Amino acid sequence: MADDTLPTGGTTGANGHDPHVPGHGDDTTERRHISRKTVLKAALLAVPLPALLGGGVALARDHRPADAPLPPTPYCDDGDEPTPPQIEGPYFKPSSPERSSLLEPGMRGTRLTVAGFVFGPTCRPVAHALLDFWQADNAGAYDNRGYRLRGHQYTDERGAFTLTTIVPGLYPGRTRHLHVKVQAPGGPLLTTQLYFPGEPRNQTDSLFDPRLLMTVRQAGPAKEAAFDFVVNPGVPGAARGR
Ligand SMILES: [Fe+2]
Repeated sequence: MADDTLPTGGTTGANGHDPHVPGHGDDTTERRHISRKTVLKAALLAVPLPALLGGGVALARDHRPADAPLPPTPYCDDGDEPTPPQIEGPYFKPSSPERSSLLEPGMRGTRLTVAGFVFGPTCRPVAHALLDFWQADNAGAYDNRGYRLRGHQYTDERGAFTLTTIVPGLYPGRTRHLHVKVQAPGGPLLTTQLYFPGEPRNQTDSLFDPRLLMTVRQAGPAKEAAFDFVVNPGVPGAARGR
C-alpha cells in the first residue's frame, strides 16, 4: 500500500478554505472566475448562469432593470493562472487504455463522476486535450500490474470531459485524491492531483493544495464532482499528443 506522500517540496498545507468554485483559493480569484470563465461555460453549455452557479450566486447583470442597456459582451482576458502542478508519485503507468469510465464489474466503492472543461490561459476551451487519470481503489490500493482504475480520454469539441469512476480510498500519509495528467494538443504535460472538500486529512497532508479542490455534491448514492483545468497551449496545428 503505498505511500506517494513524501512531503518533500510539497505545496502549501491546508488552510481549511473550501472555495465554491474549483481551483481557486481566495475570494478575489473566485469573483473573477465567476465573471469570466463561468460566463463562458454558460455559453458553452447553453444553460442559464444561475444554473451553473447553483442558484447561490447572482451576477449584477442578472438584476438590471428591463429598460437598462444590455451589458457589454463578457470579456475573457488572460488573467487565469494555470492549474498548479503536483508530484506524479510512484504509481503512474504509461499506455493506459482510452476510456472515460473506469468502472468494472464487481468494483466496490462509491460511484463518482468528475466533469469539467480544459481551458487555455486565455479562457478558451481546448478541444482534444488529453486527460490521463489514475487512482487508488476503494481500499486505497493502486493496481501496479494491470490498468484497473487507470484510463485516458480526450476533451470534446467544447473542451469538455467526463470521468466515471469510484471515490478513491485512503492510504497512509495521504488525503483522498485523484492523479491526472493533462495536455493540450502539442502542449506541455501538466501532472497534478485533485482533492475532495471536507476531508479531515486535507488539514494534514502536506501535498494538499486548496486550488485543486473539486466541487463535490451528493447525487443519491453517488457523488458528482466538477473541476476545470487551465493549461498552457500547444503549438497551433500540432498533432494530438499523449
Ligand atoms: Fe496517490
